[in-house]
Order: sequence, then C-alpha cells, then structure tokens
Amino acid sequence: MSIDQGTGSTRAILFDQGGRLVSVAQREHRQHYPKPGWVEHDAMEIWRNVEHVARESLHRVGAGADQVAAIGIANQRETSVLWDRRTGMPIGRAVVWQDTRTDELVARFAERPDAALVPERTGLPLATYFSAPRIRWLLDRVPGLFERAERGDVLFGTMESWVVWNLTGGPDGGVHVTDVTNASRTLLMDLRTLRWDRELLDFFGVPAAMLPEIRSCAEVYGTASRAVPGVRIAAALGDQQAALFGQCCFSRGEAKCTYGTGGFLLLNTGESPVRSSHGLLTTVGYRIGSQPAAYALEGSIAVTGALVQWFRDNLGLISSAPEIETLARTVEDNGGCYIVPAFSGLYAPHWRSGARGVIVGLTSYITKGHLARAVLEATGWQTREVVDAMNADSGLELNTLKVDGGMTADNLLMQFVADVLAAAVVRPMIAETVSLGAAYAAGLAVGYWPDLEGLRRNWHRAAQWLPAMDPARRESEYANWRRAVERTFDWVQ
Ligand code: G3P
Repeated sequence: MSIDQGTGSTRAILFDQGGRLVSVAQREHRQHYPKPGWVEHDAMEIWRNVEHVARESLHRVGAGADQVAAIGIANQRETSVLWDRRTGMPIGRAVVWQDTRTDELVARFAERPDAALVPERTGLPLATYFSAPRIRWLLDRVPGLFERAERGDVLFGTMESWVVWNLTGGPDGGVHVTDVTNASRTLLMDLRTLRWDRELLDFFGVPAAMLPEIRSCAEVYGTASRAVPGVRIAAALGDQQAALFGQCCFSRGEAKCTYGTGGFLLLNTGESPVRSSHGLLTTVGYRIGSQPAAYALEGSIAVTGALVQWFRDNLGLISSAPEIETLARTVEDNGGCYIVPAFSGLYAPHWRSGARGVIVGLTSYITKGHLARAVLEATGWQTREVVDAMNADSGLELNTLKVDGGMTADNLLMQFVADVLAAAVVRPMIAETVSLGAAYAAGLAVGYWPDLEGLRRNWHRAAQWLPAMDPARRESEYANWRRAVERTFDWVQ
C-alpha cells in the first residue's frame, strides 16, 4: 500500500507484485488562502483523510490489513506542521510549500554574513520554498512555543513525519521520524552527512529537540496501530523522489519530470552530490536501508497544472482541466501571447521570490484559444529552462525524458514538450509513479520485491512523443519566452 499525501489530495493505492494497480481511494482536502501568498492545510483533516483512504482502498477490493505486505509513504515536500506531543493537536495550520509569507524573513537571513553556509551545506538556495524559515515563523508567532519546542513538547514534521507519527499511535507512542529526501528539503540537514547540522539549526534558531530522527527511505519505521493496524510502515520519500524511484531512474543520467500542481524534473547524479551553478537544487534522490544515498539534481517549477486550474477556476474559461487541450486546438499557435505563471515567485532556474505572473503580447487578435495555448506552452518553456540548466550543470545531454503526472494525458502539451526540448518524451504504463515509487521502496524494505533489477522489469512504455518543431521557430519562440520571463522580475518591492 502506498499513501501519497499530496498538495491537493491524499491517495491510497494497492499494488500487486507485478507493479499493477489493484485499488485506489482518494480524498481532497481544503486549500486555505487566508492572505495573498499564504497557503495552508489543516493537518487534522489530512490525517483523517489518510485514515479514510487507507481503509477505503482495502474495502474496495474486500481485502484486510493482514493482506498488506507494507506501507510506503510519499508526500508533498516542504509543507511544515508543528504539533503538541501530548495532545497530538497541530499548532495552527500546516504552512504549504507554495506559501511566500516568509519572504521578509528569508531576505533578512540572506543578509547575514554567514548566509553562504546554507547553500554550501544543503545544496539549496535560501528561499521561501523550504521548511526552516517556516518553522522559525511558526515558532515566533506563539509566545512560549520556542521553549516548549526546546523541551521537545512541540514537534516539527513534514507531512510524511506527521502521517507516520499518527499511524504509529500519535500521542500513544507515535514514532517521530523523517527520511533523507524530506529532510534534505528543510535547509537543516547536511547533504553529505545526512544528519541535522548544528550550525544550520543555530542559523535558523530551530531547537534540535523538536526534529524527527532522520532515517533511510526504505526500512521499517514501526507498525501501524491506527487505520491499518499491524501493517509495517517501511518507506517514506518526498513525492518527487518517489516518482524518480517509481520511474526506475536508478542509474546516473536518468531523469523524470512529474507534472502535477507544479513540475519537478529530477536527474539521478549517482552517489555524490553535484553542485549546481545554474539554479538547480542538489537533493537526495533516495537511500535504501544502509546503502549509499543516490543524489539528484532537481529543477522545481512552482506552477504547471496549477495554471490550468487557475484558468478553469479563476477565469472560468473552461469547466474541466482536460478541456484546455480542446480549446488550445481551436487555434494554430499562441498568436504571440505568453503567460508566465510566477504566482509564488519563480523557482528554478531563476529563484526570484519577488516575481509575479504576467501575460504579454496581448492584441485584439488574441482569443481564449490563444490563451489556452499560452497556458500549456508555459509548462513546455519552463521545462526547457530547467533542462538547459541541467545539461549545463551535469555536462550530459538529456535525450530522453520520462514523464508522469496528470498533465501527461494532454497530447498537445507532451508534443510541445518534446518539440521545445528537442528530446524524446516517454510515458510509462503506470502513470501513478509517485505512489508506485513509495510502494517499491516499502516492498524492497520487507523483501516483497528482491532488488532494483526486478523493479526495472515492471517498467513498460505506454506512449512516446518525438520532436517535430522547426529548430529556427523553436529558438525564436524561446527568445520571446525569455523576454516575457524578465518582465516578471522584482514586481514585489
Ligand atoms: O515540492 C513540492 C512537491 O513535493 C509538491 O508536489 O504533487 O503534491 O504538488 P505535489
């Protein structure tokens, strides 16, 4: 069983030994937007959803918890929650990865003379995207909270940590752990030692006593006493790392891109971390038990599918997400219009938290069809920017990109991605790679699957898109895109 605790919903999926999907249960949770730039989740609502979908996935196929070999967890990364160890109640709402409330705090941290410590040790830029500034912000909000955290009465976790703690009993003996991939997104872990770093904790003012223990991605953390009692919890990975694993990118040079709310391209770089000089993140790809960790370079794009949702919900120009392709096909091209969705600033490769979105090239010629095309193309161009950075950093030339996620159902978009990358784009039979990756890691930990080679044999190609765009057109449109991107910079002052 995998539990994917995502930004929009929580899903439980049962897989069989062939990596085939047996049962799915899913439940959405509410998005809270209390102020511009703020995004929150109710961690209790999420925990109830975890319980519900775990039971429901079994119920749908008339199975019992005793038939589950193990549970693996994948989760939205960086989203941070604090809770009371004794009552199990969250302290305020969880602050979501897209939330930019720590803007000023991050700017203040960046001005400190020792700020270079952060990217050096973590492989990440100082940005609102990651957890540590959020923890600081939460601790500062409530008088006395810092002291309670110092005593270990208040705990911090990203969502996998919250879920494991609750599954294993919550206030009654819950296990407080995280895994190396999630810990690598906090700004508090040393990327080489894979341990919390004293100097980073001091830099951000985060007490060690509130932090979970860092474990590998595939080992038994404990046994569930709630929702699916008796089942071993044997894996946790950040969802994007889980997708890397589910896509079987086990060798150096293999890459995948998952298109969900945002887009996340990860390249396996092998057993040592590769530093980026082109705006990518260095992160942990996965670690199986006591084996050496596999590292990854990541290009994170904050807004891909979320732009389609915005087009649907905020502009009302379509009534369901798949309609965007039909609308985009009513026109030949974008009519000269570009949309840069810098809703939470721009992530890779720019890292501009003061950027905000723009629509450029508007003329009276532009129809909603052109806008629909510009919405889809924004995902293609953002992917291109990340791949350019990745090629420059790794010295490798990406010629095949494995893709997954909801947006890969859009043929027009996938063809556009292949066109602008001048690379083959391939999608596997099992599109649920996040869930599959978490299940694979758990299955490896308990011996349900023997080894990585066995998992590789389960990967089958379902679709492929080959580049067909004229190179001159590609480069001139890319130049337009880059000019559009520059117009988003430093909007927030
Ligand atoms: O880093 C954020 C990422 O993990 C969120 O993924 O698919 O839940 O939007 P998703």
